[in-house]
Amino acid sequence: MGLRRIGVVGCGLMGSGIAEVCARTGYDVVVREVNDELLQKGLDRLRQSLTRAVARGKSTQEQADQAWARIHGTLNFAEFADCDLVVEAAIENMDLKKQIFTELDRIVPPHAILASNTSSLCVTEMASVTRRGDKVLGIHFFNPVPVMPLIEFVRTILTSDTTMEIARQFGASLGKTMVTAKDTPGFIVNRLLIPYLLDTVRIYEDGLATKEDIDTGIKLGLNHPMGPLTLLDFVGLDTALFIADAMYEEYKDSRYAAPPLLRRMVLAGYLGRKSGKGFYDYS
Ligand code: 3HC
Repeated sequence: MGLRRIGVVGCGLMGSGIAEVCARTGYDVVVREVNDELLQKGLDRLRQSLTRAVARGKSTQEQADQAWARIHGTLNFAEFADCDLVVEAAIENMDLKKQIFTELDRIVPPHAILASNTSSLCVTEMASVTRRGDKVLGIHFFNPVPVMPLIEFVRTILTSDTTMEIARQFGASLGKTMVTAKDTPGFIVNRLLIPYLLDTVRIYEDGLATKEDIDTGIKLGLNHPMGPLTLLDFVGLDTALFIADAMYEEYKDSRYAAPPLLRRMVLAGYLGRKSGKGFYDYS
């Protein structure tokens, strides 16, 4: 099956990035938000990213204009009616995701594939509210989506070989490298990343070293692009906490238990870059 039209639910940081890479590849894209303000904000971010790609010499103005022309923003689920694949990138709330999957299953054509960009929630639970469990999988992108080369596929016990093959062709068309994991919290990357980030907060809380020294140690000692506390600010402390809680809930293993400081920083509104303050100040 050739994919032509891709739907994206949510035009936040991840949704706008997914919509952008799809449009740049040549797909027609419908991206949906819950209100005008969020849709406009997401589309503005997407437009800026296209402009930045031109400025960096990664695409021509003509290619950016063509990509922009392929993107259609909407508030209406009904506009997914002729999508071949829909990627859900809404907030990490299972009840909301189940509502979205129920609605999508009713609207999209019988052949269409439904995917979630969830970082940790159970994809099988989302599939369970549809009548097409064989056509549901996780397609987990990484932030910033236009830059990060990986896609992590999450295959449930219901996902068919055909769906996986179509997903692989889709990922390859976007120029991404793909890995596949079972539907367990954290999949591959977050299963390993989250305990590392939680341990970093623990050693910082214990006073082992300053935040700058912890970050410099990892950045230069291991050649990572970002130190772990900078990465936490980049990912969002609330997002990291949410994933940790989801993993702890499933595994009941202390490796995934959030340290007190992380929970308190989130309660205090220190969410990282997006709120202007996390471990570092971005104001
Ligand atoms: N959108 C588009 N392009 C971007 C971008 C963005 N938001 N941010 C940076 N870039 C591009 C730049 O244009 C530049 O491209 P060029 O080299 O071709 O000109 C390139 O990325 C490098 O950017 P900069 O020189 O401005 O900055 P850095 O060298 O510091 O790189 C970074 C920025 C790519 C974000 C790098 O620091 C990095 O890779 N950090 C780690 C990111 C990471 O780990 N992401 C995964 C998070 S976990 C996740 O997403 C899973 C979820 O479930 C939690």
